[in-house]
Amino acid sequence: MVDPRISVISERLSRIRQIIAVSSGKGGVGKSIVATSLALSLGKEGYRVGLFDLDFTGPSTHIILGVPKDLQPKEEKGIVPPTFQYLTYMSLVYYVGDNPAPMRGADISNALIELLSVTQWGELDFLIIDMPPGISDAVLDLIRLVERIQFLIITTPSILAFEVVKKQLALLCELKLPIVGVVENMKIDKANAIAEQTQNLGLKYLGFIPFDREVEAAIGNPTKLLNTAMGKAMTQIKKPLVTKK
Ligand SMILES: Nc1ncnc2c1ncn2[C@@H]1O[C@H](COP(=O)(O)OP(=O)(O)OP(=O)(O)O)[C@@H](O)[C@H]1O
Ligand SMILES: [Mg+2]
Repeated sequence: MVDPRISVISERLSRIRQIIAVSSGKGGVGKSIVATSLALSLGKEGYRVGLFDLDFTGPSTHIILGVPKDLQPKEEKGIVPPTFQYLTYMSLVYYVGDNPAPMRGADISNALIELLSVTQWGELDFLIIDMPPGISDAVLDLIRLVERIQFLIITTPSILAFEVVKKQLALLCELKLPIVGVVENMKIDKANAIAEQTQNLGLKYLGFIPFDREVEAAIGNPTKLLNTAMGKAMTQIKKPLVTKK
């Protein structure tokens, strides 16, 4: 039997112009911090932006933003996400709470379907999704459920990250999924190997984000975060998103 919630999902997402999944084959490369900063930066510029934390391995954008515990979604013919700073904010954390047990298999798919089918985003210019690392079955589920998903891929300058990312890129290409481009995060030198290799793959190199010691102290403070060198790098990274109207 087809899950009746699935048919509701495209209706729920129908008034969102661009859906951007911030993703990486590799863990710990900065997906959450970049997704959050990118969303804040677009929101500050006046775009209507939603941030959706779907990292079932450990949602963390509520910590990066400093979302207060008493700010909760409201039930009203579905779930209305709260607004915080410049963003409409929804996270799996509202679904799983403080449960320390990792989500598994069918639970993950079920939670994704549930959140996608109940959340009322309304009209948005951008929905930025903080994705779990890698391409698991649940990520493939998400790809299947969110028809207009586009991928913004994060890597670090390390060959250890980029080798894994290349596999993810090959898979996304094979599935004919749109890739906005590749962002090189935590850059500490001027090497251009990642830029070159990205372009050799026929993909767009969206730019780099410097490794910035100020980031840690800015976690939980959106204004401070946007003022770090990492936050300021969003001006460059968001360019292809805002020009593509
Ligand atoms: N440009 C940067 N400068 C300094 N620190 C950074 C930068 N980017 C990310 N970090 C730090 O690196 C760590 C990993 O970042 P983050 O949690 O965003 O990665 P992730 O890819 O979402 O990880 P996971 O795969 O676990 O979800 C965090 O402590 C974050 O603050
Ligand atoms: Mg993360």
